[in-house]
Amino acid sequence: MLEDTCSRYEWCGTLSRVIKEALGHDPVHGYPHVVRVAELALKISRLVGGVDEEVVLAAALVHDIGRPLETERGKHHAAIGAELAPGILRKAGFPEAKIPSVVEAVLAHSFSLGAEAGSLEAKILSDADKLDAIGAVGVARAFIEGDRRGRGFEGTLRHFEEKLLRLKDLMYTEPARRMAEERHRFMLAFLEEFLKETGLLGHFYSLMDST
Ligand SMILES: [Fe+2]
Ligand SMILES: [Fe+2]
Repeated sequence: MLEDTCSRYEWCGTLSRVIKEALGHDPVHGYPHVVRVAELALKISRLVGGVDEEVVLAAALVHDIGRPLETERGKHHAAIGAELAPGILRKAGFPEAKIPSVVEAVLAHSFSLGAEAGSLEAKILSDADKLDAIGAVGVARAFIEGDRRGRGFEGTLRHFEEKLLRLKDLMYTEPARRMAEERHRFMLAFLEEFLKETGLLGHFYSLMDST
């Protein structure tokens, strides 16, 4: 869906190349994540209807552009992304009048920043980004990231408890809520088996209450 939709907008090929170059091939936070978020955002857009697809697509592509600069600038990547987005979009030839809507969505996309999404396009980006953090992909991302942060299995399970198992309740749109329920059920099934096999069930009873 992304390739087809992208080919309809002149700016999209250039923008995708810039983002790919900037974020690299890291499956957790890099370009593959951006592609999955864009696919999900387009799917949700079509199911919701009445959405500015051009804004959703651009917002999905640029939403994590601030991430590589987070440590250096000491700011949340959504805030950095909102500063960088206008220049990048302008350079790619994105319509000037729609830049503020993209910036709004980028700023509101983050769980940790706790920002509220106002526009429908911002809501869809937030939903798509959160959907990519749960389900089978969410499990894979959590364990890769857990290892990078030296969390170990127990630390990663806490991350499920503190964040990932809560995401289904933060969806704005109905289609995303349905997809989130499905992904949530998969995570619970995975966790049940994982806790049994690792003998950690006794430490994480609360995890299995998150139905
Ligand atoms: Fe992000
Ligand atoms: Fe993201």
